[in-house]
Amino acid sequence: MPETRYALPKDNPRPLSGFMTWLDRRTGVYSLLREALDEPIPGGARWAYIFGSGLLYLFVSQVVTGIFLALYYVPSSDHAHTTVSYISKVVSSGLFLRSIHAYGATAIVIVLFLHMSQTILYGSYKGPRELLWLSGCFLLFLMLGMAFTGYLLPWDQKAYFASAVGTNIISEVPLIGSSLQRLLRGSSQMGTLTLSRFYVLHVFMLPGLLIAFTATHIFLFRKAGPAGPSNEDPFHPKLPAQKFYPRQLVMDMVASLLIVLALALVAYFVPIRLGPQAVPSDTSYIPRPEWYYLPMFQWLKVVGGRWSLLGGIVLPGLLAMLFAAIPFFDRGRERRPWRRPLVVAGFTLFVACYAGLGALSYHDDASDSNVAAQLARQRNAEIRYMRQPFKPEAASSAPPAAPAPPSGDPLIAKGATIFAAGPCGDCHGTRGEGTDKAPALIGISQKYSADRLAFLLHHRTPEMIDGGMPSVDLDQAETAALVAYLRSLK
Ligand code: HEC
Repeated sequence: MPETRYALPKDNPRPLSGFMTWLDRRTGVYSLLREALDEPIPGGARWAYIFGSGLLYLFVSQVVTGIFLALYYVPSSDHAHTTVSYISKVVSSGLFLRSIHAYGATAIVIVLFLHMSQTILYGSYKGPRELLWLSGCFLLFLMLGMAFTGYLLPWDQKAYFASAVGTNIISEVPLIGSSLQRLLRGSSQMGTLTLSRFYVLHVFMLPGLLIAFTATHIFLFRKAGPAGPSNEDPFHPKLPAQKFYPRQLVMDMVASLLIVLALALVAYFVPIRLGPQAVPSDTSYIPRPEWYYLPMFQWLKVVGGRWSLLGGIVLPGLLAMLFAAIPFFDRGRERRPWRRPLVVAGFTLFVACYAGLGALSYHDDASDSNVAAQLARQRNAEIRYMRQPFKPEAASSAPPAAPAPPSGDPLIAKGATIFAAGPCGDCHGTRGEGTDKAPALIGISQKYSADRLAFLLHHRTPEMIDGGMPSVDLDQAETAALVAYLRSLK
């Protein structure tokens, strides 16, 4: 191979150490580093350019804290909540790291918005940067997917009902909507299959795509070069350039440091909450998504019903396409925002509407006293749950709406049908796990013999009568089946 391929840059300011020369001959790492650090920035370093690096830093932070969470997390509807509760209440610094991860998602949304606004206002998508813009749009889409899939994973009330709403919207897509919804949920209902699908998306598929497209994005950015300030020509930069190192690098690092500090402070002083485990049969729960999804949620309330297809799917789809197409129709060399009123005003209008919808949603919730009271109850339930000590998994923590465990014994199966058909579940819970009206029936076989249990059902104690328990009207065979079922509850 020709020796020149390995040649070090001629204007090398400092001679390399023996090891660096050795490494560089084999990998080219030094030349690569030089290339990265010497990137010319037309017009010089600026604070306005820090957002890209900030996002990169936040992404790395999400990966690191995410790996930590994955050490404990189990993606199944009967363990997910317990494991997140364990992380939050038992693992040392667990709540802190979980909060960093959750607030990190919010921080990414904010910095992403700033990055996008800067790009639009500076017209930095102009010149040979259409693919750079498109890869950015795809990254935005992936990040929204990460936020959506991550929200369900704790499997508390909030997570469950917000994701139920989210996956319901998908069923509005014409023709394939219900198939899409099934694909995402894994079945018609949300359960363990949904959780493992969201988990696989959140932990494997979307991060894989994110890494690939972040690399593509950075590659395309380097290829086109920084666009510089808005009076710079997008094709042939004329302003005197400054190297990326040291000024811009220092600015980027200061920005990342400030982000670390802000995240750590919020995570420490306002740790994220975990609510009680999801109860899918709870019809009183009022779902609310994360704040940045709230305007969309409000929008669906406004256009809901007859217009949900047009307003919920078609219009957002068109807007997204229009957004992605900006560099294809705004093609002139002019980059100064006041000379591009259409794009700048369109973007400003969109942001104003989005913020307005969000504000409207808060206003609606606050002005409806029933809703406000229910939302307050939900918040208090979360606060109360966080104060309780960690409870390891008990049989009674299983979600009540889950079907009764399949049983091979026909007598027990028959008893289960009788139990389900009677009003028993209303007071004792659908699986005998107990409610605030009546005690749990799980483990009853240790308390009473079969005969005693059969006797009790036909001769109620005063406590049972007081509690409103009806007497059973069953023949001997049916009683035997019911007793067999009750004694099978473990
Ligand atoms: C209106 C509410 C209600 C309904 C409906 C109801 N129960 Fe009860 N049940 C109670 C209460 C309250 C008690 C507990 C009384 C006490 O404190 O000892 C009880 C106690 C029992 C016990 C004794 C539990 C123990 O640990 O001592 C059994 C067994 C039982 N119920 C079975 C049934 C079955 C089977 C059905 C359906 C046919 C049923 N219950 C329907 C309220 C109800």
